[in-house]
Amino acid sequence: MQKTVLIASDHGGFALKGALIQALRNAQCLVEDLGPESTGSCDYPAYADKLCKQLLAAGEDGQNGQILGILVCGTGLGMSMAANRHPGIRAAVCTCEFMARMARAHNNANVLCLGERVVGQGLGLDIARAFLSQAFEGARHLRRISQFDSFTAPEKP
Ligand code: RB5
Repeated sequence: MQKTVLIASDHGGFALKGALIQALRNAQCLVEDLGPESTGSCDYPAYADKLCKQLLAAGEDGQNGQILGILVCGTGLGMSMAANRHPGIRAAVCTCEFMARMARAHNNANVLCLGERVVGQGLGLDIARAFLSQAFEGARHLRRISQFDSFTAPEKP
C-alpha cells in the first residue's frame, strides 16, 4: 500500500524538509507538507503540534504505519520533545539507519525526528527511507509500548 507522509519543520530543518518531500514524492509516497513555507525563523513546537494532531486525527495506530510523520529541526531534539507530549505519538530522533529501523520495528514510532544540522541531507534521506520501509514487529514490543500511555502523574506532596 502507498505510504502517506505528513512532514513539517522549522527554519533549522527547512532545507532537509524540501529534499525529503522531493525524494519521497519521487518514490511514490503521498506527502503532505504542513509548513513552514519559507526559511524565516519560526517556533518548532507549533509545527510539531500541527503534525501530531493531524496524525492522531487520521487514526495512525489503526492503520498499521501507513501514515507516518516526519519532523525536522536543527537537531531533531526540540521536535521530538514537543511531539512526545501528545499521548499516542511515539516520536524518535534518529541519527542513523539502524536507529530508524529499530524505532519502527520495536517502538512502533509514528513520527521520525531529524536534525538537519546533525545528519545533513544525504544521511537524512537514507534514515527516512529506512524508517518508512520498516514494519512494526508487534508481539512483546506491543506489550511494552502499550505501557507508555498508562503512566500517571506523581502525587503532590
Ligand atoms: C533553531 O535554532 C533550533 O533551536 C531548532 O531547530 C532545534 O534544533 C531545536 O531543538
